[in-house]
Amino acid sequence: MDAHGNTVLITGGAGGIGLALARRLIVGNTVIVCGRDEDRLAAARASLPGLVAIRADVSDPADREALAATIGTDFPGLNVLVNNAARMSLCDPTDAGITAALEADLATNLVAPAALTAMLLPLMRRARRATVVNVTTGYVFSPSARAASYSATKTGLRALTRTLRFALRDTGVRVVEVVPPPIDTPMAADYAGRKMTADRAAALIHAGLLANRTEIVFGVSRLAQVMARLAPELVLTMMNRSETRWPRPPRS
Ligand SMILES: NC(=O)c1ccc[n+]([C@@H]2O[C@H](COP(=O)([O-])OP(=O)(O)OC[C@H]3O[C@@H](n4cnc5c(N)ncnc54)[C@H](OP(=O)(O)O)[C@@H]3O)[C@@H](O)[C@H]2O)c1
Repeated sequence: MDAHGNTVLITGGAGGIGLALARRLIVGNTVIVCGRDEDRLAAARASLPGLVAIRADVSDPADREALAATIGTDFPGLNVLVNNAARMSLCDPTDAGITAALEADLATNLVAPAALTAMLLPLMRRARRATVVNVTTGYVFSPSARAASYSATKTGLRALTRTLRFALRDTGVRVVEVVPPPIDTPMAADYAGRKMTADRAAALIHAGLLANRTEIVFGVSRLAQVMARLAPELVLTMMNRSETRWPRPPRS
C-alpha cells in the first residue's frame, strides 16, 4: 500500500481500532468509515476533519447494498477495504445461548466481510494497489471458550481470507489478514489481561500495510501463533484456564 493517495473504507471505523487507523490514514488519503450509531459517527467526523462517516450496519444486507452503491457513485477509486467491524458475544459453547450468539457473530464477523468484499471487488479490481484487509484475532490460533462463537467466526474469517488470497493470486488485488492481540477498546472491556492501546495497534497495522505484509500478527498474538504450532493443547488449556478465573461476564 502506498502511504498517500488511497481511498480507504474502514467498516466499524467510528470507534476502537478502526477509528485509530482512520486517524493515521486521514492525511493524504480519502478515508471513509461506517458504523451503526449516528452519534458516534458524528463524533468521529468532528474529531477528524475530512473523514467521511456513513451510517451502515454491515450485518444488514440492505445497508451493505446501500453502502456499496454509495461507494460506487461517490468513491469509485476505492482501493483499500478494511473489514474491521465485529461483535463478540461472551458465551461458552455449553451455554443455551450459543445458537443465538453464533448467528449474531456470524452475520457481522463472517458474512458481512465476505459479502462486502464480493460487492466491492469489481470496483477494486480496476484500482491501483488494491488491498482487502480482514481483521481477525489471536483467538484464531487458540480459541477462547468464553468467546466461543467469536473465536469460531473469526477462525472462519481467517479461512475465508486465505481462500480469497488464493482466488485473487493472479490479479492485482492483495489480501491481508491483521491478527491483533487484546486491545484496550470497548470490545475488550471484559478482558482482564494486558491490553495494547488502539493507537499502538493502529501504528503497527499501518506499518505492516506500508511494508506490504500479507499477515500482520503482533503483540501476544505472535506468541500465540508460535505456541499453537509447538504445543496447541497446552496453549489452549493455559489460556482458557486463566480466562475462567476472570469475573464471569453477563450473557449476551
Ligand atoms: N479489542 C480487542 O481486544 C481485539 C483483539 C483482537 C481483534 N480485534 C478485532 O479488531 C476489530 C476492531 O475491534 P475493536 O476492538 O476496535 O472493537 P470496538 O471498540 O467494539 O469497535 C467496533 C466498531 O465496529 C462497529 N460495529 C460493530 N458492529 C457493526 C456493524 N454490524 N456494522 C457496522 N459497524 C459495526 C462499532 O460501532 P457501532 O456500534 O457504532 O456500529 C465500533 O465502532 C474487530 O474486528 C475485532 O474483532 C479486537
